[in-house]
Amino acid sequence: MPLIAPSILSADFGRLGDEVKAVAAAGADWIHIDVMDGHFVDNLTIGPVVVAGIRDLTTLPLDVHLMIEEPEKYAPRFLEALHRSDGKHAERYVSVHWEVVGSVAGAERAFRIIEQHGARPGIVINPGTAVDGVLPLVERAALILVMSVEPGWGGQPFDESSLPKLRALAEARARCGSSCLLEIDGGISAETAPQRPVSTATAAAQAGADVLVAGSAVFRSKNYTATIAALRGGPE
Ligand code: DX5
Ligand code: ZN
Repeated sequence: MPLIAPSILSADFGRLGDEVKAVAAAGADWIHIDVMDGHFVDNLTIGPVVVAGIRDLTTLPLDVHLMIEEPEKYAPRFLEALHRSDGKHAERYVSVHWEVVGSVAGAERAFRIIEQHGARPGIVINPGTAVDGVLPLVERAALILVMSVEPGWGGQPFDESSLPKLRALAEARARCGSSCLLEIDGGISAETAPQRPVSTATAAAQAGADVLVAGSAVFRSKNYTATIAALRGGPE
């Protein structure tokens, strides 16, 4: 069964602490934090001070998706913000975009910074980016995140071109025996429809996703526990 990572981008930011605690109590496996800088994407969201506000609220792994330019300059600020004051660090995944780092060598430079701060490094590819460039990183990254919407906003429709990318990554991972996690982000829901009998959550899990990010599907639902269970594909 896939892990479920609610994206707090769709949470009520006036009650952010309560929202994080609510999804944790409802069975979330990770908390996904979307950081946008107004340059790499045309939106501004969460800075290090907000990350520092969240980190002590839960012991769940924190999954920080950096949609930012200059990760070598700014990632350390987020990595430091993830350090708990009581020293009881949760697992931390910090991911940078392939479109920013531009090469395996560039990714490895960012990964080293992330690892120096005790976090696990991930790489993200946009819907318009071919999977080939990141295939060599299945042996090096802790996480590869396939975007199934254009990064920037929640609530967009699922891009089906993410599914063959997940399958290619799952095959590459099986070939080299790596334990790199595969994650999908954007348009994930447990809903089916006559024209779409398999939900995007099920389709992504079947294609090889280990971690499903879901923003609006979780935070716009009335019952977080039922929604998270449905996303996982099992009974409540
Ligand atoms: C988009 C973010 C996503 C977003 C997903 O740039 O990376 O994490 O919150 O939202 P939904 O699940 O609503 O598509
Ligand atoms: Zn995200």
